[in-house]
Amino acid sequence: MQDALEYLQNQLKDFSPEAGIILGSGLGFFADEAIENPRSIPYEDIPNFPRSTVEGHKGQFVYGMLSGKPVLCMQGRFHFYEGYKMDQVVMPIRIMALLGVKQLFVTNAAGCINTTYKPGTLMALSDHINGLGTNPLIGPNHDDLGTRFPDMSEVYSKRLRKLAAEASKDLPIHYAEGVYLAVTGPSYETPAEIKAFRTLGADAVGMSTVPEAIVANHAGIEVCGISCITNLAAGMSDQPLTHDEVKETADRVRTSFATLLSRVVSNA
Ligand code: HPA
Repeated sequence: MQDALEYLQNQLKDFSPEAGIILGSGLGFFADEAIENPRSIPYEDIPNFPRSTVEGHKGQFVYGMLSGKPVLCMQGRFHFYEGYKMDQVVMPIRIMALLGVKQLFVTNAAGCINTTYKPGTLMALSDHINGLGTNPLIGPNHDDLGTRFPDMSEVYSKRLRKLAAEASKDLPIHYAEGVYLAVTGPSYETPAEIKAFRTLGADAVGMSTVPEAIVANHAGIEVCGISCITNLAAGMSDQPLTHDEVKETADRVRTSFATLLSRVVSNA
């Protein structure tokens, strides 16, 4: 990680990012359109850095100013289901923390469990349930970043959720706050699993975000998570689930999603 950090510090030179942004499915364009004079650093150029393998994810950092705030965006993230070790999945977040990032905005696509949501709903994460069966903080503690047993009672900042709710008011989308449950994937869930997750208190289900949020919270970074609800979860419709549906919905609401994100980041 030290090599990767030093390479990034050399590339960024005097640029000190205040906020990190992880762009999920369909939001990659945000980095090129919302950031003034965006500059990029491909993951493949960074020593010891993982590469993204998912179609539709670009695989680079993009940095620059967003309404006067220096931001570092990830265009493409690392999922546990791709076969990465947890350490690799969260390495970008640890590097952000060491670069001095104070806020993390993390986005994703998620399946809808809450029956009052619909595809296209934008959901700010109020909390999460870690269903990954592992934790990214397992192993020696990074004492320079945070404590061995970090509190997780407010992983997703109330303050930032309030800003997100305000920013959503005039947008032509359904906005909600809810609990995100992370599974490893890559298979989608069964209808019985979705029923069980609903009973457990989950509103949405997805295959990312929780490792990054745990590591950011450990490092004292203020986190804001926003899901694009892309599909009814398994068993909630007669249609089989496909990645195409996920991409189509994410594309349909991408303008509102980008507006919401850029307002929250700039007001935060
Ligand atoms: N399940 C898990 N992950 C997802 C889904 C889903 O239904 N939709 C988008 N990501």
